Amino acid sequence: MKQIFESDQISFVEVSECLVNDYLIMVNDDEHIGKYIHGHIGGASESYTVEQEYEWIRKTLESKAVVFSMLEKRSGAFIGNIELMNPNNYDAELGIAVTAAKQDMGYGTEAVSAMIDYGFHTLGLKRVFLRTNHDNARAIHVYKKCGFQEYDRTDQHICMEIKDKFLFVKITLERNLRGRK
Ligand SMILES: CC(C)(COP(=O)(O)OP(=O)(O)OC[C@H]1O[C@@H](n2cnc3c(N)ncnc32)[C@H](O)[C@@H]1OP(=O)(O)O)[C@@H](O)C(=O)NCCC(=O)NCCS
Repeated sequence: MKQIFESDQISFVEVSECLVNDYLIMVNDDEHIGKYIHGHIGGASESYTVEQEYEWIRKTLESKAVVFSMLEKRSGAFIGNIELMNPNNYDAELGIAVTAAKQDMGYGTEAVSAMIDYGFHTLGLKRVFLRTNHDNARAIHVYKKCGFQEYDRTDQHICMEIKDKFLFVKITLERNLRGRK
């Protein structure tokens, strides 16, 4: 599988047919994934078939969409998928799904931070935004930890964003704090 970039514990690779069974388990897991996600990266109202999954992989690769699969570096195990949807020269929307077996192990926080960094520094984005359900307390906690701030809310969603100046301030503060230890 082709690695695009890596963080401490995660390898970010191109989506791949080798992972089709992992994708299927994740996208068809309504209890842990589907109820929080409205898009192919994580869930669906009806179960996906293996043929649909192969078709999604083909289209994702063909369109050069910014969607990566995440693998645990130490074991090679599948962690989940992460994407920056519809990127332009200003911003893109973040989507992430960590498979049930790998949730609450720190991967989501690491992955979101790494993907923001990739968006700002490799894609040249100035802003990353997202929408999350009001009842998705874990996701909201993770996004805040990564520097996202709420800028709007609707009946269905909390809308959050991070702009590069906030990231710059956050990274500088972290570096300063590390330097003091
Ligand atoms: C949301 C998601 C991406 C987070 O990734 P993750 O790997 O599980 O998260 P992490 O392990 O990095 O961090 C979880 C944090 O949430 C906290 N947490 C867990 N359950 C929580 C809850 N019910 N309420 C508030 N915080 C909670 C944990 O304590 C941890 O915080 P800490 O590190 O400060 O202690 C992942 O759980 C996921 O994919 N969920 C299903 C799909 C989804 O919701 N996607 C996002 C849609 S917007």
